[in-house]
This record gives sequence, C-alpha cells and structure tokens, in this order.
Amino acid sequence: MEVLEAIHKRRAVRRYRPEPVSREDIQTILDAANHAPSAMNRQQWEFIVVTGKKIGEMGESFGRIIAEYTRNWDAARMRGSPFTREEFVRFAATYGGAPVVIVVLTDTAETRDFQRANLESASAAMQNLLLAATALGLGTCWMTGPLQDEKALRRILQIPGDKEPVAVTPLGYPAEIPDAPPRLDPSLEQKVRWVE
Ligand SMILES: Cc1cc2nc3c(=O)[nH]c(=O)nc-3n(C[C@H](O)[C@H](O)[C@H](O)COP(=O)(O)O)c2cc1C
Repeated sequence: MEVLEAIHKRRAVRRYRPEPVSREDIQTILDAANHAPSAMNRQQWEFIVVTGKKIGEMGESFGRIIAEYTRNWDAARMRGSPFTREEFVRFAATYGGAPVVIVVLTDTAETRDFQRANLESASAAMQNLLLAATALGLGTCWMTGPLQDEKALRRILQIPGDKEPVAVTPLGYPAEIPDAPPRLDPSLEQKVRWVE
C-alpha cells in the first residue's frame, strides 16, 4: 500500500476481531516504528507487546478510570460520540477486544528540551507503527487515556523509572472501521500560511 493511501485509510478502530496477529506482522510493524526519525538520532523508543491476560489487567485499570470519568455523563454529553457510555467503558476495559496491545515508551528526561525531543521522536515512531499496521490490513487506535493511571500501567507492565509511557494502541483485525471524521479545514485555507 502506498504511504498516502495508508495515511488516508488509517482510522481509530475501537472494535476488533479476536483472531491473533502473526509474530511476523508485529515484527514488520515495529520495524517501521523503529525507522522513524529521532532527535539526534537517539532512537530512544521502546515497545512493549502485550497479549493474553495482561491485556485484561490493563483493561481492569483503564475501564475503572473511564467508568469514573464518565459517571455523570448523560445522553447529551455523549452526543457526537459513536458510543454509548456503556460501550465507551467496555472499549476501555477490553481494548476493543484486540488480541494485542502495544505500549510505546521513551526515555525519561530532566530538561524540557529533552522531554520534548523524546516525546516527539516517540510520537513519530507511533505514527509509523499505525501506518504500517494499516498497510497490513490491521487496525489501531492511538490512546493516551490509559496513561491516566500511569502507576497501574507501570506496575502491570513493570516499566522502570527511566522509561516513560507515551502512547498505547490496540492492534488487531478491525471488526468495524469508522468513517473518516471530516477535516475542520479541508481546503487548508485557515491552517496554512505561505510566506516568501
Ligand atoms: C495523542 C492522541 C491521544 C488519543 N487518545 C485516545 C484515547 O485515549 N482513547 C481513544 O479512544 N482514542 C484516542 N485517540 C484517537 C482519537 O480520538 C482519533 O484519532 C480521532 O478521533 C480522529 O479519528 P481517526 O484517528 O479515525 O482519524 C487519541 C489520538 C491521539 C493522536
């Protein structure tokens, strides 16, 4: 698949089929992530590939967070969302039924410059990962929600203090692919300024 096609096809998938993803495909996707640009070419990202009961443990923590976060949300608050509140909580608790969840980590840093550089480099890796998955017919959903309970994530996945989780994505064959959300400024008139 051409890169431009993958960019346009990629969607935040929140419902997955249970079929496993092959080791080879996961390796291909992580190799694409590992080829992202990085500040000073430090390539300081790491990946945790989560399967089996560990996904359930992560979901227990994240599902609790979302249930609490949305406790007082009524129908009006959910308007515009493709989900009911219950579906939203279920997605969080099961990662949409995906057989794999990938966590992208970066090095922790003391200074704001390094924090930014690390975050941006790891985000580039994350985007490569999503696009490679799309090219292989797999679904993903960039998620930072699970980081709200970073303590639980660190405990469950034994993430050491010198690493920082940046983003999480389920990975699997989509059970449902949502429509592309419309661009706020499709002609780019407001978002681009050409200077000479
Ligand atoms: C930094 C970031 C954090 C996100 N966090 C979540 C999340 O916690 N939960 C979720 O369901 N989607 C999350 N998303 C996915 C967005 O909701 C999604 O990308 C957006 O609605 C546009 O849809 P699309 O990805 O299909 O174009 C996140 C996306 C980004 C880039």
